[in-house]
Amino acid sequence: HRPIRVALLGCGTVGTEVIRLLTQQADDLAARVGAPIELTGVAVRRPNKHPDVPAHLLTTDAAALVASDVDVVVEVIGGLDPVRGLLLDALTAGKSVVTANKALLAESAADLFAAADASGADLFFEAAVAGAIPLLRPLRESLAGDRITKVMGIVNGTTNFILSAMDETGAGYAETLDEASRLGYAEADPTADVEGYDAASKAAILASLSFHTRVTATDVYREGITSVTPTDIAAARGLNRTIKLLAICERVTGEDGAESVAVRVHPAMIPRSHPLATVGGAFNAVFVEADAAGQLMFYGQGAGGAPTASAVLGDLVAVARNLVGGGHGPRESAYAALPVRTIDQA
Ligand code: HSE
Repeated sequence: HRPIRVALLGCGTVGTEVIRLLTQQADDLAARVGAPIELTGVAVRRPNKHPDVPAHLLTTDAAALVASDVDVVVEVIGGLDPVRGLLLDALTAGKSVVTANKALLAESAADLFAAADASGADLFFEAAVAGAIPLLRPLRESLAGDRITKVMGIVNGTTNFILSAMDETGAGYAETLDEASRLGYAEADPTADVEGYDAASKAAILASLSFHTRVTATDVYREGITSVTPTDIAAARGLNRTIKLLAICERVTGEDGAESVAVRVHPAMIPRSHPLATVGGAFNAVFVEADAAGQLMFYGQGAGGAPTASAVLGDLVAVARNLVGGGHGPRESAYAALPVRTIDQA
């Protein structure tokens, strides 16, 4: 089979690891896919900041790279614009997209899915939620025959790192936030992490996939961790509890019997004996409840370059296999609209 041609948009913490894995594992990946995966270009803002990337691959013109002769666009820039337009262009042109962009999916999933389904392109985004943990594919595929009732867990590595450090050392969140940024866990603007926006985006994506409906980030009740003090943590400890930032997505039935979806993100005091209490550092853990499956638990590294790149590479292999074998990923533009029950923002 001819090579699968890939454009990479962005070369930060995650993009650097994507290039490293693609290069180091080139032969293995080619064998697994049935065709070589060829990186044809890397769009960056400042080419002189990337001495390790072959100069001929670097470009500042992301739109031209997307429009060039490529099969797949891998996006690890993040943020809404200009990425939204770039990915819609790619999908409309029938180019499959692999993205780690939770903010964009939480806002524009409907448009992206519609563009993908219209052209037959694939849209994969395992890296957008819970880093390395295989979670979206189980929700989209393995559990597609079941009825999910609840998804709950820790989906932001930065705030979990901060809360865990506060619990262990009594430090304030500002000191530990700097370290989370240095380790590559935090977003470019860490406000998204500590104010709960990142977790709210992920919760919207989880709820949309789990309940086969459309939930956007603005539907999610959101509280971050900026007002959690060392005193709060000490008080929780005195009650044999700890504080975690939780994302909770529930299918709820009203008094009239009508179903809706409620999604929220907020700090919660949980017993130290609860499995979520032992999740430390930048790890994430997510519990899923489904009618037939019962309870499931997903756990692993939720942030950082290499863990997130692992999820990107998995998606890239899936897309490449589809291109070689003629298959395609799940179609999402058809969905059952379940109303979202909004909770008044504090
Ligand atoms: N800033 C995110 C986090 C990165 O801390 O979880 C992974 O999505």
